[in-house]
Amino acid sequence: MNHAKTNKDQSGKAGESFLSTKDIPPRERLIFALDVSSIDEAKALVEQLDDSVMFYKLGLQLFMAGGYFEFIEWLRERGKIVFVDLKFFDVPQTVKSAVMQLKNRGVYFVTVHGNDKILEAAVEHKNGLKILAVTVLTSLDESDLKDLGFQCNVEELVYSRAKRALKIGCDGVISSGLEAPRLRRDIGEQFLIVAPGIRPVKNVDDQKRTVDVKKAFLNGADYIVVGRPIREAKDPHKAAEDIQKMIGSLFIR
Ligand code: C5P
Repeated sequence: MNHAKTNKDQSGKAGESFLSTKDIPPRERLIFALDVSSIDEAKALVEQLDDSVMFYKLGLQLFMAGGYFEFIEWLRERGKIVFVDLKFFDVPQTVKSAVMQLKNRGVYFVTVHGNDKILEAAVEHKNGLKILAVTVLTSLDESDLKDLGFQCNVEELVYSRAKRALKIGCDGVISSGLEAPRLRRDIGEQFLIVAPGIRPVKNVDDQKRTVDVKKAFLNGADYIVVGRPIREAKDPHKAAEDIQKMIGSLFIR
């Protein structure tokens, strides 16, 4: 399937654009990675961000703070959408049980890592949750993959993992915006692509496979995950609003 539209000088390769046509409210396309170490800090940040962020990703750091599920409820009471990013990776039975624990928690996305059996176990008991398969962490580049024993390039590994995950019944994948065009070109437009590793400005941290907001969407992302560029900004609310403005200009309704 080829869903590419010509769009000179805006997309990944050869002037292609894979802008999402899914019915997602534009302001929900920005997912903020709430990577802080206490629930109090998290609540203060959510209050500060107010309507500039509708969708929150809660990762390992916040999980280890304690009070994770009460905090999910707190967010839900405020109309926020919740992404549980704990990257479940264990024997299939354990992953299945972990996914089942999220039943009726009002969670939208959960991430799972691993081989076919692990993904199958997660999908089997998803109960309305959307399962996102982690492909290759955006902090890893080709030489890191070599160190881990993979003899293929990043794009091939992302593609083969995504293809398998979707066949198994996952709702989408986590992929850097760099590999998204290949996924759209060769797998299609139905499944979800959630792209972390977004750097609105020059990158100075551990993320290696980064793109900016506009490029991530033109390359086919349905959602972007942004953490530090908002959290570490002088004015996080303004940083998030600036990203929302960019998203709004791409997805005019
Ligand atoms: O701060 P930054 O914008 O790099 O945040 C990226 C977030 O996305 C982090 O919470 C990280 O755990 C997450 N993530 C990632 N790469 C993946 C999956 C999740 O960077 N493949």
